[in-house]
Amino acid sequence: MKRKFIETADGSTSIYLEEMDEHYHSKHGAIAESNHIFIKNGLLPKSSQEEISVFEVGMGTGLNVMTTIKAADEHQLKVNYHTVEAFPIKEEELGLINFSSLLGMDQGLFLRIHTVPWEIENLLQDNFKLSKFHSKLSELELRAAFFDVVYFDAFAPEKQEEMWTEEIFQKMFDVLKAEGILVTYCVKGVIRRRLQAVGFRVEKLKGPKGGKREMCRAWKDK
Ligand SMILES: C[S@@+](CC[C@H](N)C(=O)[O-])C[C@H]1O[C@@H](n2cnc3c(N)ncnc32)[C@H](O)[C@@H]1O
Repeated sequence: MKRKFIETADGSTSIYLEEMDEHYHSKHGAIAESNHIFIKNGLLPKSSQEEISVFEVGMGTGLNVMTTIKAADEHQLKVNYHTVEAFPIKEEELGLINFSSLLGMDQGLFLRIHTVPWEIENLLQDNFKLSKFHSKLSELELRAAFFDVVYFDAFAPEKQEEMWTEEIFQKMFDVLKAEGILVTYCVKGVIRRRLQAVGFRVEKLKGPKGGKREMCRAWKDK
């Protein structure tokens, strides 16, 4: 599918897929959305832990990897980050993405996120390990009860229903530790009910400024 690189309201890059009529991020600000949903409401609630293990669904541009590294540096966290991506960004597209300058981060680090090998653990910096899997989520085998946080950043259910099934949510539930959390931008009733059906306790939180009014956080209580 052809990727069109666009600018969102906070100046950060995102991608629009014409064929699917779908954006990778909120048009109201890709960085703002990542910081609000995944960092503030996903990562930081776990900041008292010695190491936080994160699983991201859909690495895409690598934005959530970047914002997580920045948060890890700012809050002295250690992160073990795993992510899956079925359709990686091409190396020649990386220059079209402006996250490093907007986040005040090293472009070399951004390039390394995308160019380190798949399927193995890469030590990106002392406090950050990155394991990327080039696979479909449904085909990926993950360790049970290993993760503290799931960043669920799939395309919208109206565009890619197969990512939002009870079967997939059961898989996310199983890979989380007790007291683990899943965060996502989608708060649709039908999706919340599917999360509840596999055992999550679901809460609605305020969404990012200017974007969707609400977001969803789901807890694996035990
Ligand atoms: C909403 S975008 C997420 C973007 C990403 N988190 C970012 O910040 O750029 C959804 C991502 O899921 C990927 N994807 C689509 N189907 C997938 C599948 N079956 N398994 C894994 N990833 C998939 C897409 O290629 C896309 O990169």
